[in-house]
Amino acid sequence: MIEFYDQLSPFYHLLYKDWDAGMVRQAECLRDAIRAQWGDQAQSVLDVSCGIGTQSLGLARLGFHVTASDLSPQAVARAQKEAETRHLSIPFTICDMREAYRHHGGGFDVVISCDNSIPHLLSDEEILLALQEMHACLRPTGGCLLTIRAYDTEERGRGIVKPYGIREDGGKRYLIFQVWDFEGEQYALSMYFIEDDLQSGAIQTHVMRSRYYAISPNRLLELMEQAGFAEVKRLDEVFYQPVLVGTKK
Ligand SMILES: C[S@@+](CC[C@H](N)C(=O)[O-])C[C@H]1O[C@@H](n2cnc3c(N)ncnc32)[C@H](O)[C@@H]1O
Repeated sequence: MIEFYDQLSPFYHLLYKDWDAGMVRQAECLRDAIRAQWGDQAQSVLDVSCGIGTQSLGLARLGFHVTASDLSPQAVARAQKEAETRHLSIPFTICDMREAYRHHGGGFDVVISCDNSIPHLLSDEEILLALQEMHACLRPTGGCLLTIRAYDTEERGRGIVKPYGIREDGGKRYLIFQVWDFEGEQYALSMYFIEDDLQSGAIQTHVMRSRYYAISPNRLLELMEQAGFAEVKRLDEVFYQPVLVGTKK
């Protein structure tokens, strides 16, 4: 998994048609969800799977006090660089979310893990451990916000193709797609970037492989309750993925 995101981090922005615009859009959705659930006092946000910074950078730009970490050193290095370019001050560190409390300590208003990061943990036990650590990172009445794919409606099978489309970047054109192969509740994912140098015509294919646990949003809500969160619920239509929220009592 670390290797997957280390290899992916220089290309990650290409998953979006316009990464900066996506960052702004996502941050506004998350801000509205945070305000609606936990009010205006929620200021400090811990992002335990920041990747290259899509949500962390956007939320910091909106004035939240963001602390961010991720398991992938290359993703964290890129997030740091992206923050410097945008004159944003965010402490980024490398941390496994299953050790979030030991690493970050407590007292945060909100803890987030967005864009399908949780399903990299391949069992209920691993996910519960991460949720317990997130719970410990929060002050009483603090909130947890997760976003994952709607696996309850995703097709199952082998050789499922998920196209991302064509992107142009730095004189190169990329054809991007994923291929999924389900084995029970898990699936192997291959991410392909076919890179076409528009000047020289040289073609290169980058393939990265990882594994996911296709946990349903309902099961994840149950695990959030088990980890100690109250008022857990799924919010649809506030983000491009289901948003799951819970509050520490
Ligand atoms: C799909 S990316 C999303 C990253 C970021 N939230 C974004 O939207 O740009 C999933 C992220 O989860 C991170 N991740 C996976 N397992 C992790 C773990 N156990 N602890 C911390 N981060 C993890 C990966 O390194 C990767 O950066």
